[in-house]
Amino acid sequence: MSGSDKTRDLAGQRVLVCVGGGIAAYKALELVRRLRDAGAEVQVAMTAGAQQFVTPLSFQALSGQPTRTTLWDGAAEQAMGHIELARWADRVVIAPATADLMARLAHGLADDLVATLCLATTAPILIAPAMNHRMWQHPATRANLATLRERGIQVVGPNDGPLAEGESGPGRLAEPEEIVAALSGATLRAATVPQDLAGLNVVVSAGPTYEDLDPVRYLGNRSSGKMGFAVAASAARRGASVTLIAGPVQLATPTGVARVDVRSAAQMHRAVFAALPADIYIGAAAVADYTPREPAANKIKKSSESLALDLVRTPDILAEVAAQTQALKLVVGFAAETNNVAEYARRKLEAKRLDMIVANRVGIADGGFESDQNAMTAYWKDGERSFASAPKTQLADELIDLIVERLNA
Ligand code: CTP
Repeated sequence: MSGSDKTRDLAGQRVLVCVGGGIAAYKALELVRRLRDAGAEVQVAMTAGAQQFVTPLSFQALSGQPTRTTLWDGAAEQAMGHIELARWADRVVIAPATADLMARLAHGLADDLVATLCLATTAPILIAPAMNHRMWQHPATRANLATLRERGIQVVGPNDGPLAEGESGPGRLAEPEEIVAALSGATLRAATVPQDLAGLNVVVSAGPTYEDLDPVRYLGNRSSGKMGFAVAASAARRGASVTLIAGPVQLATPTGVARVDVRSAAQMHRAVFAALPADIYIGAAAVADYTPREPAANKIKKSSESLALDLVRTPDILAEVAAQTQALKLVVGFAAETNNVAEYARRKLEAKRLDMIVANRVGIADGGFESDQNAMTAYWKDGERSFASAPKTQLADELIDLIVERLNA
């Protein structure tokens, strides 16, 4: 998509930018500039917190309109009352959406100008959350996010990476360019996607795990993580609150997905259980079945002609999740097989007490681990469905269709 295609449908649109009180507020300045460049008319409303980070005057200079900061400004209300402003907007974007602002929106509060505008508007709302990663992953924020999505509010980001406080994780404000893209084409497309997973928490594992042998070597596998990431992206587009537990992969975090990066099977096990309870668990990761009993503290030196590794079994995350007593609605596993695909897959379905297993054949040309394409078959107790070879993003959408069907079966 070219730059102009991306922003074409913002020309002439009236966009209300609501700025929350977080360090990322400075990026909202760039957002306003880009929206103006795209031909949108922009007005800005700020929370009290936002004004601690950026001045109303900066936004005024960029938007070309007075910045609104309070409900109680007689002169501003006379020029355009807050209800009028809420009506004026064709789109509303909240950037950064802090944990506090998300909580206030979820509960329908009208305790300041921004919250009141969001309650009074009938325009589509897009939020771009930004906060500390622990605040983002807190069950309270997850619940608020689910509520907001259920109401049709679109979400972009947060992205994963270094955070202002020196930590790292999901919590960075989406880049202004991504927010603009989400507001234009992406928002319109998303509006046509059925929100049939709204209100549900989905945990997806993806990618390989690396089991360290010593400080420089590890046991790994060829999983690219593409299938799991595509499934996480698809579930988020359908309205789910998605936590993606990712092994070491070089893939961008899908929009609206909370990502937790891990390395080993043991770390993945901990991260998955920390992300529960959930409604759906999709184990797409290629978890190592064995790990060194004791990784060497120092680099292993070559001394003899052969070397035997002492490996122990890793916990079977999928089987443990499926054995949970708490109410998971659906547990889905993956099986990569080189032969006897159906038989081995069905065996795993039963042995691990899964609701569904998705099997694909590996070791063939143009399919499996590193490919963008794949063909696969899903099995459940009394049925199966084959998916013809297609890009993994398409397969992910089709798999989510099936998951929705099985949920409602
Ligand atoms: N899995 C898991 N934890 C493990 C191993 C596997 O959660 N320690 C999950 C994977 O995410 C995948 C499924 O189990 O969903 C794969 O099943 P598994 O029996 O481990 O497959 P293979 O390793 O291919 O088994 P085998 O070597 O016996 O064929």
